[in-house]
Amino acid sequence: MSGMTIVGAQWGDEGKGKIVDLLSSEVDVVVRFQGGNNAGHTVIVDGKKYVLHVVPSGILHDGKLCIIGNGVVLDPAGFLAEIDALQSLGLDVSPARLKISYKTHLIMPYHKAIDAAREGKSTNKIGTTGRGIGPCYEDKKARTGIRAGDLTDPEILKAKIVRALEEKNVLFTHLYGLPPMDPEQIFADLMAMADRLTPYLADAATLIMDADAAGKRIMFEGAQGVMLDIDHGTYPFVTSSNVVCDNASIGSGVHAGMIGERIAIIKAYTTRVGSGPFPTELFDATGDFLRTQGGEFGATTGRPRRCGWLDIVVLREMSRLCDPTSFAFTKVDVLCGLDTVKICTAYELDGEILRFPPQTPRGMDRVKPVFETMPGWSEDLSQCDGWDSLPMNCRRYIERVEELLGIHASYISVGPDRKQTFRH
Ligand code: IMP
Repeated sequence: MSGMTIVGAQWGDEGKGKIVDLLSSEVDVVVRFQGGNNAGHTVIVDGKKYVLHVVPSGILHDGKLCIIGNGVVLDPAGFLAEIDALQSLGLDVSPARLKISYKTHLIMPYHKAIDAAREGKSTNKIGTTGRGIGPCYEDKKARTGIRAGDLTDPEILKAKIVRALEEKNVLFTHLYGLPPMDPEQIFADLMAMADRLTPYLADAATLIMDADAAGKRIMFEGAQGVMLDIDHGTYPFVTSSNVVCDNASIGSGVHAGMIGERIAIIKAYTTRVGSGPFPTELFDATGDFLRTQGGEFGATTGRPRRCGWLDIVVLREMSRLCDPTSFAFTKVDVLCGLDTVKICTAYELDGEILRFPPQTPRGMDRVKPVFETMPGWSEDLSQCDGWDSLPMNCRRYIERVEELLGIHASYISVGPDRKQTFRH
């Protein structure tokens, strides 16, 4: 069992990229298994900022094989733009070290147009990233999707695009008030990218299993967070893939036994972008403080993130779904300067105390968080490089979270640079 799986514990943006980057030095292969370029990982190495959307964060380490698994949805133009940007920063993003599964579904222009049209029209917006993620996964499930491997067979590719647009154009012209899309144009645009894309295609599952058989270590890199999971998150305000650890196997094409060690990434407070319930959200100066101190603006869309206190109810749910072996606690430095810090330990709903999120349709909108208040700290954490260097009140906060969850914090992060994360 050579795997290590990294999963976001809240609503995404927990700092997974930074931890994946750090742990990449311990593995040989890094695999993305779900989501697409709705994700945005910002990693800072020696003051240089890298923003990754669909390319696994392992790319920042020489000699690591990076794989975009079958569970990912890939925007071809977005992918090429991303690798061009990474190349201009001096990284090797050649097909020798970056692979795309033949089975990965492609995000087509009509997926993005549907995403935008729905969000534009709807009175009940999900607040998607507008990248066409949901409509692409819909086509996958409807068995009408275009897979990366189709790029190698223009005849099949064209027939599939024509078929897809037979339905989509009815939506565009009759529901969304948009002009129809031209299948010939979409086909031509895709074929114009095919020469650059096809060298990246691979039988990804075989590569991973061969690496495993050769005793190499594999990391499965999650995107988003468990509360955005299509089944177990705050539906319908979720993304369209399974985010939980176990999807690492399905989204990579390997058996579940390979998932191995599971590290949940927990931010020291909570954020969310887009719509949907958020019981510990702060609408006051403390919320503004967290947003400013934490630089809580989306790496993908630039949207300001909603901010609130740490929510143990959400984390308990994550914990029973993923059974993490440990967690990484990120952005602990952001809390510095607060007189007190709060932890939500339970919800109250209609006089009942809940330890897990309610299952009823509007339950999560109506819960009231039950808080525990702890003293804050004012010492700057940016130079802290070990447990003993943390201020006492900060250590107490982390210990309380460990105690409430029954999970050990194996990594603590006190700043954006690679050097500002230490083992505990
Ligand atoms: P979609 O994934 O673009 O369909 O967006 C669905 C919901 O998931 C929206 O609330 C997005 O803001 C949220 N979301 C998707 N990807 C991320 C992410 O990487 N971080 C945080 N939120 C995300």
